[in-house]
Amino acid sequence: MSISSFLRKKFSRALFFPSHNRGKALPPKLFQLLRDDPGLWDLPELPELGSPMSDFGLINDAQNYFAKKFDVNSCWFGVNGASGLLQSSILSMANPGEYILLPRNIHISVIKICIVANIMPIFFDLEFSEISGQYLPIKKEWLKKILDNNLLKNIKIAGIVLVNPHYQGYSSEIKPLVELCHRFQIPVLVDEAHGSYFLFCEDSDLPNSAVKAKADLVVHSLHKSLNGLTQTAMLWHHGNNIEKSKIATKINLLQTTSPNSLLIASCEESVKDWLEKDSLEKYKKRISEARNIYEELVSRNVPLIKTDDPLKIVLNTGSYGIDGFTADKFFYKNGVIAELPEMMTLTFCLGFVEQTNFINMFENLWKSLLSSIIVRKELKPIKPPFRLIEIPEIAPSESLQRCSQKVNLKQSIGRISADIICPYPPGIPLAIPGERIHKERVDWLIKQGLMGENLLDFYINVLIT
Ligand SMILES: Cc1ncc(COP(=O)(O)O)c(C=O)c1O
Repeated sequence: MSISSFLRKKFSRALFFPSHNRGKALPPKLFQLLRDDPGLWDLPELPELGSPMSDFGLINDAQNYFAKKFDVNSCWFGVNGASGLLQSSILSMANPGEYILLPRNIHISVIKICIVANIMPIFFDLEFSEISGQYLPIKKEWLKKILDNNLLKNIKIAGIVLVNPHYQGYSSEIKPLVELCHRFQIPVLVDEAHGSYFLFCEDSDLPNSAVKAKADLVVHSLHKSLNGLTQTAMLWHHGNNIEKSKIATKINLLQTTSPNSLLIASCEESVKDWLEKDSLEKYKKRISEARNIYEELVSRNVPLIKTDDPLKIVLNTGSYGIDGFTADKFFYKNGVIAELPEMMTLTFCLGFVEQTNFINMFENLWKSLLSSIIVRKELKPIKPPFRLIEIPEIAPSESLQRCSQKVNLKQSIGRISADIICPYPPGIPLAIPGERIHKERVDWLIKQGLMGENLLDFYINVLIT
């Protein structure tokens, strides 16, 4: 089968990203553009259009309009996902050789740019849920404990990244966190890849957007948490801690010289769509339907975990002795495609389309899964074996340049990693180059790997000393 034929494949339910649910919830103007004029829209950077970097043209006008509307200094459309804009943001916060503070649930794109640009990551651990096996949202006291930590006393921190909300929808109250970092004079980048739509519905009892909380930089993934096409993203810039010209230079450094005009139009339309009164009402209805789905399923004893994002359904398969990977295969076989299997859970994304007849369908599938599994496992989440603050022994960029050898995970104990171990989704590294591999890490990696067949290679590159 060709790729293009596969792309036409129908599933009963597409409960994965992108959140436009296979075109059904695309912004109306984009939908029209794709339906009426295949390929007509594929234009180069004509003077009337310009590019996200130019100070003329329709793209510049749209960016300026949104910046004004949301009271930020500036904003940029991105066509290489939130990944691309996160990377440009990191480059604009830290110079080569400088340090940035990263949570352990940081996205892999940030690690990659640290490697490319020789920026030194300092990791801080997060609280962990013994129920879901997932990281919990960071609290102000926890962050303060980190910023006050002695290990950081003599290090100049160029910036900090906060991931909010998490992939599954857990969210912190972001404003106090941003204010705390600013009190320590540390610029803040919030990876809000999973929370773009929070910006538009302030009266829907959703978490506050980091854009409103005046974080220095905020990155949105418009295909994950708005209704844009895959690869579309947005970077919002606030305040004077980071110079606008520096950000523009760093975006320019990484961006293609031929940004796809359809993706750029998608950036504009997905944001504009949420500013239209009628559309907004429609999306608020989706949010309230999603809340109803959650309540109803819980009342029918389907084990869901509550998060702060109503559009995520997190099924706690582990509470019934079923790991998320086994559950994922079962749902997939039945045409219901989830987004994120993990050891204890399976996460589904409702997206922005109306989910008709969802509750019965979901409850029935859950019950058939339960009855189809005869031997249940005793599942206990394994806490990641990280210290509160850890600095890689060798800079990740250096570790990748040195001579390395591939060894079995068990033989890697005591050695320094020259590898990134990072299952996707969720794209959170379990080990990065430059870190010394302790026995607890290996035990944890092996236990994680045993859950999903393709999750981990049981080999790792380590430095030859
Ligand atoms: C927290 C987080 N940030 C950033 C990204 C990257 O987003 P994109 O796929 O738009 O590049 C992801 C992708 O999974 C993510 O989960």
